[in-house]
Amino acid sequence: MPLAAVLLPLLVLGASSVCQGQGAASHNITAILAAYPEFTDFSAALVSTGAAAEIDRRSTVTVLAVDNAVMARLKAQKLQLDDLQRVIYLHVLLDYFDAAKLGSIQGGFAQAASLYQASGKAQGSDGIVNITVFPDGRVAAFTPSGPSNRLPTAFYQRSIKEQPYYIAVLQVRDLIWSPAPADGVQAPPPAPQPDAAPGLTDLLSKNGCGGFASLLAATADAVTKYDSSAAGLTVFCPADEAVEAFNSTFKNLTADAQLALLLYHGVAEHYSAQSLKAINGDVSTLASDGSKNNNGYNLTIRADGDTVKISSASASAATVTKTLLDKAPLSVYLIDAVLLPRRSLTTTRDTLRPPLRRPPRLHMHLHLPLRRSRRRLPLYRSRRRRRRRLHMHPHPHLPLLR
Ligand SMILES: *[C@@H]1O[C@H](CO)[C@@H](O)[C@H](O)[C@H]1NC(C)=O
Ligand SMILES: *[C@@H]1O[C@H](CO)[C@@H](O)[C@H](O)[C@H]1NC(C)=O
Ligand SMILES: *[C@@H]1O[C@H](CO)[C@@H](O)[C@H](O)[C@H]1NC(C)=O
Ligand SMILES: *[C@@H]1O[C@H](CO)[C@@H](O)[C@H](O)[C@H]1NC(C)=O
Ligand SMILES: *[C@@H]1O[C@H](CO)[C@@H](O)[C@H](O)[C@H]1NC(C)=O
Repeated sequence: MPLAAVLLPLLVLGASSVCQGQGAASHNITAILAAYPEFTDFSAALVSTGAAAEIDRRSTVTVLAVDNAVMARLKAQKLQLDDLQRVIYLHVLLDYFDAAKLGSIQGGFAQAASLYQASGKAQGSDGIVNITVFPDGRVAAFTPSGPSNRLPTAFYQRSIKEQPYYIAVLQVRDLIWSPAPADGVQAPPPAPQPDAAPGLTDLLSKNGCGGFASLLAATADAVTKYDSSAAGLTVFCPADEAVEAFNSTFKNLTADAQLALLLYHGVAEHYSAQSLKAINGDVSTLASDGSKNNNGYNLTIRADGDTVKISSASASAATVTKTLLDKAPLSVYLIDAVLLPRRSLTTTRDTLRPPLRRPPRLHMHLHLPLRRSRRRLPLYRSRRRRRRRLHMHPHPHLPLLR
């Protein structure tokens, strides 16, 4: 290796550590956060766990802050100080990551030691945080580096403060990690708690639905909606390869259409494998908006011998290929295609045109789906059946979509 290749990084490192030497830092995390009322609880936790003093003492640090709503859920877990400290310390990275640096991470993946690692209490790599930047470079997810089946929940939300290369304060959507409620992963979501979301996406990805779960995880409103359906839930999960084939179209959809499409795969009732066969008719989906304009958001379920077929108001259709989970109040069925509700056809390009002609509401039941939409509808059936077997055991680190 040429000498310069070895020396140059050393020189750069050396130079930056001079700037970052002890004493160069003069930040006060409590004062920084004081300007944001939504972080009062997080700020208080930084102080009570001793993290604030550590942050102020360190010259290169990134603080991943969560708002009061997230903290309220953490508080509800009534953690011992040790556990609370672990959670909070994981949210302090001992390196500088501002929004620009996140976006330029080579290969979209980096790791950083957290204050938890530095506390000496972490076992192995428990205190290391994985940073995964999604392919379009706009979304980063922070996850604990240890083995985990949980999907990322701590997505970058916005930058609060950047003072290169001393301190960055970023808001993330949810906690990187918190102690799981006992057996939380196995148990289906028992009550409408905001916290059930990771449980569901988790369950999905553990049961062969990684692709769909990652789309859900990246669409916060979808998770919330699935979550609030605690009375019972049936999920029709398109196989990974169907999701993959669909991903570029998915990206072209407007945010509303993306949400509708995801919600279209959930039914707010638990259908066992038996009762599913007995439906022989329409069910409304999570995308059906009560009584309002829900035409096009119903699914038609028909049993054909032992096979259950699903069709929609659009030309899309799918077949249930496997029961992934059937345990009240939740069941998950693998299907071989992405189902398109009629209304999710509005792509970003379409929004530039006048909206599609809509028949008056009264006539909606009588009209066939608009022809224009119909003809454009591609069918995203899984073509590569061999790959399905390979996808059966999803890799725990997800999602890379969007
Ligand atoms: C940091 O700022 C807070 C609030 O402005 C203040 O109460 C505290 O004394 C400051 N800490 C240090 C070490 O200066
Ligand atoms: C974090 O990154 C390490 C190294 O690439 C990897 O082995 C580990 O599985 C990752 N953990 C998660 C939860 O993604
Ligand atoms: C998505 O939109 C881009 C540009 O608007 C277009 O070129 C591309 O074909 C679209 N992809 C799909 C799958 O519709
Ligand atoms: C959708 O399905 C529900 C039954 O789940 C039914 O009451 C409703 O009339 C259906 N809507 C349409 C537009 O077909
Ligand atoms: C989208 O699908 C294409 C082709 O199936 C694949 O090459 C690409 O990696 C996928 N992108 C994401 C973000 O999954």
